[in-house]
Amino acid sequence: MQRWLQNSFFALFVNGNDMSLKHLIRRGFHALGYDLIPASFSAYSHVPYAVITSHASYAPWLEQGPFNEAYRRIQGNTLVDVHRCYELWQLAQQLASCPGNILEIGVWRGGTGCLMAKASPSKTVFLCDTFSGVVKASQKDSSYKGNEHADTSVNVVKKLAAKLEVQNIRILQGIFPDETAPQIDADMLFSLCHIDVDTYQSARDCFDWVWPRMAIGGVVIFDDYGFYGCDGVTTLCNELGTRTDNLMLYNLNGHAILVKQATP
Ligand SMILES: C[S@@+](CC[C@H](N)C(=O)[O-])C[C@H]1O[C@@H](n2cnc3c(N)ncnc32)[C@H](O)[C@@H]1O
Repeated sequence: MQRWLQNSFFALFVNGNDMSLKHLIRRGFHALGYDLIPASFSAYSHVPYAVITSHASYAPWLEQGPFNEAYRRIQGNTLVDVHRCYELWQLAQQLASCPGNILEIGVWRGGTGCLMAKASPSKTVFLCDTFSGVVKASQKDSSYKGNEHADTSVNVVKKLAAKLEVQNIRILQGIFPDETAPQIDADMLFSLCHIDVDTYQSARDCFDWVWPRMAIGGVVIFDDYGFYGCDGVTTLCNELGTRTDNLMLYNLNGHAILVKQATP
């Protein structure tokens, strides 16, 4: 019954402009396995929106196994739904033989970061967060104003890592890349990077830092691409998708997936 609730489609309609209240309400419903969808998408007319319901029904994340067990443990520490978590898990496993480590910017309470660390024990997973909320909100971001998601700490992430029995994480506290990138070896390569930072400029700075350090065939995931309220990141990914050095895919779970191509 619990699993059925988590994976069914529920559209609950809310109005209102108070982002922090909306975040709180959304988080509460999310913990119960529901999602909140605005009653009207009209606020950001520069981006086309619709509720997307896939007709696919193969759901491998329901199988009992290592993913299911790990997801059950991280579920209370993530804002990311099971479909995106499953994709991160799969990519972390599939990229095991691609050279380089794993980088996540936008860790919050550690859910997705610790999940990738569990899936890829041979790699170091750098977990980068201000732990004081979202930064660099600008006019490109219609919803985010700054400081959202500040309700976490380094200790919360450490506790989750212990619960999952992962030892391959390094936590970097501060604005990335401005304050914390210098703590990473200058010549380090990455095979997988998960950018979940909510605003245009923050995501742009993270991408600009990591892209030259991505191995060929390595993958950068933008969590926020397909989501109402994250229009700054949607704009950024559409700009990046016009470049010739990547393949960009819109996974209808909301992710933008950029695969690094060899440059001529
Ligand atoms: C939506 S939350 C991340 C959610 C997380 N991946 C999960 O599993 O639920 C976004 C996080 O990005 C962080 N953040 C935003 N911009 C940042 C930056 N430039 N450097 C470090 N952290 C940043 C915020 O502090 C916040 O915790």
